[in-house]
Amino acid sequence: MRNQQSKLLIIGVLVVAGACGALVSSLTLAPIFPFFRGNSLGTLPGTVFHPAAFTHWPPEPESAPMSAVFNFTFVPWFRSVAPYIHKFRNQTFVVGVCGEAIAAGKLPHIAQDLALIQSMGVKIVLVHGFRPQVNEQLKAKGHAAKYSHGMRITDEVALDSAQEAAGQLRYEIEAAFSQGLPNTPMAGSTVRVISGNFITARPVGILDGVDFKHSGMVRKVDTGAIGRVLDFGAMVLLSPFGFSPTGEAFNLTMEEVATSVAIALQADKLIFITEIPGIRVKPLEAEGDNNPIDTELPLAAAEQLLATLAPGERPTDTAFYLQHCVKACKAGVERSHIIPFAIDGSLLLEIYVHDGIGTMVVDEKLENLREATADDVGGILQLIEPFEKDGTLVKRSRTEIERDADHYTIVEHDGVIFACAALYPYPEGKTGEMAALTVSPQSQSQGDGEKILKRIEQRARAAGLQSIFVLTTRTMHWFIKRGFVQVDPEWLPEARKRKYNWDRRSQVLVKKLA
Ligand SMILES: CC(C)(COP(=O)(O)OP(=O)(O)OC[C@H]1O[C@@H](n2cnc3c(N)ncnc32)[C@H](O)[C@@H]1OP(=O)(O)O)[C@@H](O)C(=O)NCCC(=O)NCCS
Repeated sequence: MRNQQSKLLIIGVLVVAGACGALVSSLTLAPIFPFFRGNSLGTLPGTVFHPAAFTHWPPEPESAPMSAVFNFTFVPWFRSVAPYIHKFRNQTFVVGVCGEAIAAGKLPHIAQDLALIQSMGVKIVLVHGFRPQVNEQLKAKGHAAKYSHGMRITDEVALDSAQEAAGQLRYEIEAAFSQGLPNTPMAGSTVRVISGNFITARPVGILDGVDFKHSGMVRKVDTGAIGRVLDFGAMVLLSPFGFSPTGEAFNLTMEEVATSVAIALQADKLIFITEIPGIRVKPLEAEGDNNPIDTELPLAAAEQLLATLAPGERPTDTAFYLQHCVKACKAGVERSHIIPFAIDGSLLLEIYVHDGIGTMVVDEKLENLREATADDVGGILQLIEPFEKDGTLVKRSRTEIERDADHYTIVEHDGVIFACAALYPYPEGKTGEMAALTVSPQSQSQGDGEKILKRIEQRARAAGLQSIFVLTTRTMHWFIKRGFVQVDPEWLPEARKRKYNWDRRSQVLVKKLA
């Protein structure tokens, strides 16, 4: 789940920015925050959108000079990033960039973003791929690229080509990190890039009668040496090469090197910058408005999905990067990401924006987030009862909860339920109500509320819903910070409106699902 550990507060910033937009009502934010447009945020507590406003989401700010809004937007935005800068300081990220990204001319911006992230105290190991570059060298030599089992067969010519491609790419990457022209994002940056023989390799050998020659697999990662380079404040740059104790060079894959290094270092994140946008909610169906990128895949769900997919042999196969993310997560790397190089700034958007932009596979083994069963009814009642008594939640009977048990999602640890929420779909309005969101008082502020919200969002998406809504009397700000906007109760689907308690005067908040 995208919880407070990994996702940034820019969402909160945008709320503030939206607030400023409302205050300085004749301004346009788009020139300052191009990403502001299209984000389902941007309202002040107390700013109520009429249902009609929902035909355009979000409501369009009017236009005016940029300078008037700058202070109101920049300062809160920058301050709100601070907790995440503190959070990620001294963490280790292993970033694998596919060769296609470099071939597509994305290196300068990726280097700028990595330099920025590193300057905020993150230790970075960068692994580059070189598939297209090696193929280009092979073509120049009049030699065909040969693959089997999704791996390159590295004969003598291919090994030469790989060495030439790696040399050229290292040179280009070092050059990109050496930029520092005034008035560019790299001005004043001092990124030292250190490469080396950190990987010991072994040959792939002969598989099903196919001799892979100089193609290899990672045998060992020199974590001590990599750690010392990172502690020295440098960025580690690895090419997909490893050497055997006999001094023989082996051509590896970027994905395997990045995954092995992340596991060996027990990195905080493994991030693949790839030619695919991430994993879709319905992975086997075509992209479309009702098949967005699944921003967060729990490890168990990712494993299940992988089991249903054909082996990932080409980088565009759904299983290709996913298999490495799952492997890393299972081996202790809590979060692995697949993000697109096609979107400028995708690294920053994935790391510092609440919902991210690609897919994050996350290991949730520490506690059990799951759908409830009839056996959980007692625990749910025990959890929500105090909040019903103090009026935070509407009273629900045992019979009602027993009937609706499968609508509930819970966080359970050692048989105790610590958090819950229910999703009641209103398919006619393509929306659903998230009800009874509760986290036990002793485990509040640890991200469980957000985890449950994310799971409810996933369930809603899977049910084909386009938004979720909540009715709340006391928790409005919590929801606004997480992308909800207030609407008039008239907005509610007819069936829900009929049950709306006008005396309780609950506020209605809606979140559009990406
Ligand atoms: C609201 C609630 C579900 C949040 O769960 P949680 O696990 O504590 O939430 P998270 O850990 O994801 O987020 C914690 C943050 O939310 C803030 N928060 C908690 N309750 C809040 C509220 N009522 N209004 C605004 N912010 C709130 C915390 O201060 C904390 O902020 P910080 O990270 O800046 O310190 C939980 O506080 C709760 O169960 N409250 C009582 C029941 C309730 O109000 N349910 C909503 C019914 S509509």
